[in-house]
Formats: sequence, C-alpha cells, structure tokens
Amino acid sequence: MKSSNRLLIKNIGMLVGAYECAPGVLRGLAMNSVPMLADAWVAVEGDRIEGFGPMSDAPSEDGFHQVVDACHGWLFPCFCDSHTHLVYAGSREGEFRDKIAGMSYEEIARRGGGILNSSDLLNETSEDELFEAASRRLRQCAAGGTGAIEIKSGYGLTVDGELKMLRVIKRLREVFQMLEIRATFLGAHAVGRAYSGRQGEYVDMLIDELLPKVAAEHLADYVDVFCDEGFFTVEETARILGAASRFGIRGKIHANELAVSGGVQVGVEYGALSVDHLERITDEEIVALAGSSTMPTMLPGASFFLGIPYGKGRQVIDAGLPLALASDYNPGSSPSGSMRFVASLGCIKMKLTPEESLNAVTVNGAAALGVSDMGAIFPGAYASVFITTPLPSLAYLQYAYTEPLITRVILKGQSLPA
Ligand code: NIG
Ligand code: FE
Repeated sequence: MKSSNRLLIKNIGMLVGAYECAPGVLRGLAMNSVPMLADAWVAVEGDRIEGFGPMSDAPSEDGFHQVVDACHGWLFPCFCDSHTHLVYAGSREGEFRDKIAGMSYEEIARRGGGILNSSDLLNETSEDELFEAASRRLRQCAAGGTGAIEIKSGYGLTVDGELKMLRVIKRLREVFQMLEIRATFLGAHAVGRAYSGRQGEYVDMLIDELLPKVAAEHLADYVDVFCDEGFFTVEETARILGAASRFGIRGKIHANELAVSGGVQVGVEYGALSVDHLERITDEEIVALAGSSTMPTMLPGASFFLGIPYGKGRQVIDAGLPLALASDYNPGSSPSGSMRFVASLGCIKMKLTPEESLNAVTVNGAAALGVSDMGAIFPGAYASVFITTPLPSLAYLQYAYTEPLITRVILKGQSLPA
C-alpha cells in the first residue's frame, strides 16, 4: 500500500470500540464496557487506521485521497469469526427435514449421515468448484461485517480430501487478501469411511501421514479435534495436539457439544488457542480455563439450529473469564455466517449484555483467531470496519436482529463493492 493512499471517514455518529492501543483479551467485568466517541472522524493510511478524534478537531480534507461521509451512521470494528467450516460441497437440507421430524444430530451421524455425508460429496467435488462455493459464502460473510475469519478442513477425511480442502483455504487467503483468514486442519472431525471400525488406525494416519504433509506445505495455522462423545477421545486428542505442537501448530478444539468430554482440560493442558462449543460446561471446566491462555468460545448458532442447550456464557464471564462467540458456519449444525445473528443470540439466549456480546464477536474473536491487529479501532489496527445507519443506542445492533443496518463495509482500507 502506498503511504499516499489516505482515507478520511467523517461525520461518524458514534465511533464504537475505539482505543489508544490494542485492548488485548477482555475478561470478566471488562467485557461489559465498550469505549465510544460521539461525532467522530477516523483517518486511514493504506490498510491501517492512522488515528481518530472528534469532528470538532477534524483534520483538513486536503491531505486525503478519498473522503467517506458516514452521515452520522455508527462505525464498528469488523467482526472476527474464529470458528467456521465454510469450505463444503452441496448442502444438507435433507437432514434439516429429518431434524424437523424429530431426529437428533447424533442419530443422523450414527446413520452415516452428517459429517460423512458432506465428506462423500466433498471428495467428488473439484477444487475449483469448492473454491467458487466458498468464495460466495466468504463474500456474504464480508458483506455482513466480518473482517477476519477462521476456516477449517474436516470434510475430506482422506489424505487427498483434507489436502484439497486446505489448498482451497490457501487460495481463498491469496484471493481475499482484504480479509484476515486463518486455516485449521480438522482431519479428526470424524473417522473417514475407509477407516470405519478402525479409529485408532485413522488417528495414526492423521499423525504419521497427513499432519507432516500439512506442515510441510504450511497449509494450517491451527489443528482441531472433535473431542466429544461418539467422535474422538481425550487420549486421541492429546496425541494429535502433541504431534501438532512438534510442528509448532496450536490447537483449537471442539469440546463439550454432545457431552462433557474432557476436551476443555486436554485443550488447556496443551495450550490450545481456544476450546469451542462448550454447550455443556461444569465448574471443573471453568477452573481449568481460569488462568489459562485458552479462549472459551461458544457457538450459539449451532444451539439455535440443532435445538440443543446454549452455552452458559453468562456463567463464564461472571467467573472472570473471557468469552468469544463465533458462527460455526457449516452445512450440518449452523448454515449461517451471520455474526450479527450470533451477537443477537448472545444477548437473547445467553443473557450477555450488548457490550459483552459485541466484545465477544470483535476483540475476543480476534484473540481466538490469533489476530492481534483487528477487532477494535486503534492506531495501527487494520482499517476493517463497517458503517451502519444512525442508531439510537448500542443495543440496537443486537436488538434489531433482522434489520439491514450495515450501509458500508471497509476491509483493510478498501470499500467492498456494493
Ligand atoms: O462444529 N461439531 C462438529 N462439527 C461441526 C458440525 C459439522 C457438520 O455437521 O457438518 C460443528 O457443529
Ligand atoms: Fe465447528
């Protein structure tokens, strides 16, 4: 980016989440505050925020290449969605019918549907088709205000299928440079069909054959394991996390969606960046997370779609811990990448305040992604922001959960085409 490429955003009704420097992780009571500045401007140089201030002290427009008038709309840092599976083939609305008729997620999986259904389809689909479908979903996420996003593999479940998914994610990263994208290797999402009844051998294959290839091609920032009842055990999770750590790859674990699985404890023990889902959580998990560097992450979209309990986010914050919320965008348990909806569910179903829920999808989402220069407005941060219509108050963002409030999205200093 040329340093001459300067953008001024003026007449911002309310600048939301503005700090002098990066806020880091917000935990406990600190999650309940969002610094705001009324009637403000933001200056952007290249892809980064240069500074901000009140309109009474606005810089001359002369030095700017472009001026955007926010027309008293509110300006927010982009959402940071730390958990998605948005590379997939086809869709699973047939299972949606099964769920309406009363089948559970576990019953569908036991019948050979679920993740294995998506895996069959993915292995038949070309890399180009996967890339096109994922690009469409990614553009929708960006238009909804998402500026940073994690994407997992986990529908290949074969050496070739997993590498194909991870190469698609790598290509997305190259093409969508205005988004911050992180890739996670989730070979341990389910046991591939070829290994049916031989789970131990499947895990050996992941560790001995696939992980070294993933590491050699630098295809993954993180490794994930679905550590839950009927999927992978704590021992298998520990083996995979241990092997990944030898390649310098940290964990982001699926835990406690279907049962209290021990996934939180093993994640914390191996220094996982986050433990995700947590629809079920006991005092033991809270104790394990306290003082750790692992971000508890909840996915209320999956609770909504599957009709399972919501994570006790309120309890986690009240215990002084941080909390991130993410979309879990995937075809089986959360076919939506809307982070506004996630933030609304955080308030409506998990009883987070609007401030807590906003911090969970921005500042703490960035931390759960391992991205340090997003999720808040501060000098040096990426200029990834969205502008809304004028709002009566902060809570309106989560309250008006279907109103199309976003008028403009700017990613790393560039306006998204309308
Ligand atoms: O995070 N729980 C495991 N994995 C996904 C669901 C994947 C699927 O059903 O395709 C999740 O909910
Ligand atoms: Fe998931």
